[in-house]
Amino acid sequence: MTKVAIIGTGPCGLSMLRAFEQAEKKGEKIPEVVCFEKQEDWGGLWNYSWRTGSDQYGDPVPNSMYRYLWSNGPKECLEFADYSFDEHFGKPIPSFPPREVLYDYIIGRVSGGNIKDKIKFNTRVTNVIYNSDKFEVSYQDKANDKISKDNFDYVVVSTGHFSVPFIPEYKGMDSFPGRIMHSHDFRDAEEFRDKNVIVLGSSYSAEDIALQCNKYGAKSVTIGYRHNPMGFKWPEGMKEVFYLDRLEGKKAIFKDKTEQEADVIILCTGYLHHFPFLDENLSLKTGNRLYPPKLYKGVLWQDNHKLIYLGMQDQFHTFNMFDCQAWYARDVIMGKIQIPNDSEIEKDISKWVSMEEKLENPDQMIDFQTEYTKELHEMSDYPKIDFELIRKHFKEWEHHKVEDISTYRNKAFSSPVTGSVAPVHHTPWASAMDDSMKTFLNK
Ligand SMILES: Cc1cc2nc3c(=O)[nH]c(=O)nc-3n(C[C@H](O)[C@H](O)[C@H](O)COP(=O)(O)OP(=O)(O)OC[C@H]3O[C@@H](n4cnc5c(N)ncnc54)[C@H](O)[C@@H]3O)c2cc1C
Ligand SMILES: NC(=O)c1ccc[n+]([C@@H]2O[C@H](COP(=O)([O-])OP(=O)(O)OC[C@H]3O[C@@H](n4cnc5c(N)ncnc54)[C@H](OP(=O)(O)O)[C@@H]3O)[C@@H](O)[C@H]2O)c1
Repeated sequence: MTKVAIIGTGPCGLSMLRAFEQAEKKGEKIPEVVCFEKQEDWGGLWNYSWRTGSDQYGDPVPNSMYRYLWSNGPKECLEFADYSFDEHFGKPIPSFPPREVLYDYIIGRVSGGNIKDKIKFNTRVTNVIYNSDKFEVSYQDKANDKISKDNFDYVVVSTGHFSVPFIPEYKGMDSFPGRIMHSHDFRDAEEFRDKNVIVLGSSYSAEDIALQCNKYGAKSVTIGYRHNPMGFKWPEGMKEVFYLDRLEGKKAIFKDKTEQEADVIILCTGYLHHFPFLDENLSLKTGNRLYPPKLYKGVLWQDNHKLIYLGMQDQFHTFNMFDCQAWYARDVIMGKIQIPNDSEIEKDISKWVSMEEKLENPDQMIDFQTEYTKELHEMSDYPKIDFELIRKHFKEWEHHKVEDISTYRNKAFSSPVTGSVAPVHHTPWASAMDDSMKTFLNK
């Protein structure tokens, strides 16, 4: 019997498990599946942890989520086609839920059946090599510090790529008298009340952590961008300036000559695709981009089609894109989709990579990833979902952010699955200090 290893139970690993479950429900014979998760529970990044650094077993903590994190895109854009928000919550809910609500939704879809029985928790995959047509997977039972090995026909890598921080160094850091940290270790903006905060970076973490610190009472927030400013109309107490030059004592000096007193530097400088458990010839090497090279249809490793990567792209689309990838991967594994020859594969990858390299603005990037997801969607029986509506929502959302970065989360969108329109949330995001599911849903 074909044997499949899935590594990680974040949204991607859970999409893969769900894809097999759905085929089984239709009476299809599915392969033997073993899933490995190094944390003690499922949900990946959405399973919040207070821990930073390493866990009680000395293993690096993968979690980068923090308290008070709200969805940064409309929930309608990530909705599962086979499990709507209306079905999970029993009523339409607002478009920008906090983390706990999204976690509840992700877990709700996989909780009913026997998916959990297939997962070995607290189990870290330490090594994967390919030998005589099989993958040899070594894994560590963390609690008992015991290493075991098993052979598989396919390996699905769904370990995420926002867990291992990229940490640059700036002059003066070694003598800065305050705190220097990466967004990976940020947990609670309350910590920076009345502090002068410097945020370095110009992407989603920089935007959100800077806004959070401002919302929860930082004295000042200064964002230092490297290439392009985000350029939003920042609320009072925030500014965006060009590139940190150096730190001199407590002073941050930027290349545009801005000088700012600093208590803390938060490096929102992105993450590394990092697969220490994979043999060199199996390991994806890429930056955070919309079409990582060497992945056919964004998922199959070009040099070995039995190795599958899920969710390795930079992401506008998330949960339903991961589903389309998982459903496609499932059908490849089950022999329902035939893979073309090597030159067709090379041509297809080159086509997408060169299209990606020509993208100039967020609208074009949204179009690119929507087209990619639609193409995958048509290749499997993943249920109907309106990707044209999602494309439209993403573009409106981008424009809402440009209009006002403090109010875009107060807008409401319609579902691409059920058509229902979200209610406007009872409290504007800028004054909603309590992010609990109870308060979000029940008021
Ligand atoms: C701070 C932050 C906020 C975000 N907010 C949003 C948002 O609002 N909306 C949105 O759509 N997306 C958001 N994202 C994007 C996020 O990437 C996806 O939502 C999603 O979590 C990706 O799922 P994943 O399964 O690929 O990875 P992850 O969620 O990272 O899950 C990977 C899993 O693999 C496990 N693992 C890793 N290595 C091993 C190993 N060697 N052995 C066994 N298990 C292993 C980890 O423990 C983890 O459980 C956010 C990302 C970050 C960092
Ligand atoms: N729900 C939410 O609100 C929320 C919050 C946070 C994060 N997220 C998610 O988390 C994921 C990761 O986002 P991310 O922002 O951490 O990573 P990212 O999108 O990969 O961005 C990395 C940033 O680091 C900057 N950078 C790299 N090296 C630098 C240096 N030496 N000096 C200054 N800047 C440097 C890059 O700037 P250049 O452009 O100059 O290279 C870029 O702006 C995304 O999927 C996002 O959606 C969501």
